[in-house]
Amino acid sequence: MSELVKLIIDEKTFEFPVITGVENEKAIDISTLRKTTGYITIDNGFANTGSCKSAITFLDGEKGILRYRGIPIEQIAEYSTFVETSYLLIYGQLPSEKQLADFSKAFTLHAPIHNDMKKFFEGYPQSGHPMGILSAMVCSLGAYYPELIKPEPSTEEIDMIAVELMAKVRTICAHAYKKSIGKPFIEPREDLQYVPNFLHMMFSEPNKDYIMIPEVVNALRTVLVLHADHEQNCSTSTVRMVGSSWANLFASISAGICALWGPLHGGANQEVIEMLEEIHNEGGDIQKFINRAKDSNDTYRLMGFGHRVYKNYDPRAKIIKQRAHDLLKKLGIKDPLLDLAVTLEEAVLKDAYFQERKLYPNVDFYSGIIYKAIGIPTTMFPVMFAIGRMPGWIANWKEMKESTDSRIGRPRQVYVGKKMNDYIPIEKRK
Ligand code: ACO
Repeated sequence: MSELVKLIIDEKTFEFPVITGVENEKAIDISTLRKTTGYITIDNGFANTGSCKSAITFLDGEKGILRYRGIPIEQIAEYSTFVETSYLLIYGQLPSEKQLADFSKAFTLHAPIHNDMKKFFEGYPQSGHPMGILSAMVCSLGAYYPELIKPEPSTEEIDMIAVELMAKVRTICAHAYKKSIGKPFIEPREDLQYVPNFLHMMFSEPNKDYIMIPEVVNALRTVLVLHADHEQNCSTSTVRMVGSSWANLFASISAGICALWGPLHGGANQEVIEMLEEIHNEGGDIQKFINRAKDSNDTYRLMGFGHRVYKNYDPRAKIIKQRAHDLLKKLGIKDPLLDLAVTLEEAVLKDAYFQERKLYPNVDFYSGIIYKAIGIPTTMFPVMFAIGRMPGWIANWKEMKESTDSRIGRPRQVYVGKKMNDYIPIEKRK
């Protein structure tokens, strides 16, 4: 017999089934709660609410475990490429050699963006944040593929949108960067793979090709792979929520990009570098900033620390920290911000406030050091996160679309406003 949980309200007992995940996570299925008891639940920030069943990513924040389709993140970071990882997330299994070659080729074929779309860039101010541009452009892609924005696309059509999105997003990001520095766009090349092609569009100039450094390509590949999915985080939940109304994949991902932009989510990587620069420019007094973060009367937070789910070291941060050290060593760069980051981390990990709250460095703490070493400007950091998270968003949207029990996302509320109140004509209002 399946496990049941009993809830007693006014001496009446109600029973709810328990759903058990493959890693023995337990959830109480309260989908009949309101119908049977008249009650709803309140769960601020959805910290205890499972919004779906998913077979994509497993995460145990207490133990610091992260797996894509069952494969530990450490193995993925060591052996896989971004394109292969994307295939794994979207299709549920590692590709054969031919499947990988076809998938990779499709990104090259679909990399250029429509000439009309390039004109959009002319309308944005040079200083416009690239996340706003990216979100608008991704949503606009739907205008160029009217056949792909129907409410119920077939599996083949979802696959086509997935390729269009992943291929074009990196072109849009690179063009947004070129626009921000007032330089001409660089078109994608057919002979380059995903990450090198991005670096080429970012850093080549009309008469001067960017020289690929294998360590740079590898470091960027690792960072993208580590960002590829993270189960039901704020942006992925947004993608699912928007998609649950049968909005198209372009619109859903555009909304996910906006959610990611926030400084408490993917925007944190930009904030981390700005915080480290501030500490550095003010003489390196780490304790002053730690004290501010601990002060309950101050809203200031140490960016890059803490996580809703990880109550242990974020396994991605561990890998990124090592890669940041390796890359700077290989490139012969001495970045005072890396030294500062290490010192800050050491001080934080020893501090009782952070220990009690289990606040460890998250994925955003060291990623900026790598981007900076590659030459990517800080405003582009959240954009890099968006490129990396694209396969995870697509995989979650696809999974939701293909599930048979998906419903429109529509939470309830507890009303705390005025009770019944009469309309007062304007001349009688004070
Ligand atoms: N600095 C100082 N104190 C912190 C920090 C921080 N970075 N993060 C959490 N705390 C404190 C809170 O003030 C709170 O203290 P209290 O119990 O005395 O009130 C306690 O730790 C719990 O914090 P919550 O805000 O309840 O945790 P929540 O799970 O809601 O938020 C979040 C998680 C948003 C990541 C938070 O830790 C944070 O703001 N971190 C800084 C921003 C950041 O790095 N974001 C990137 C996260 S990773 C990602 O999205 C890719």
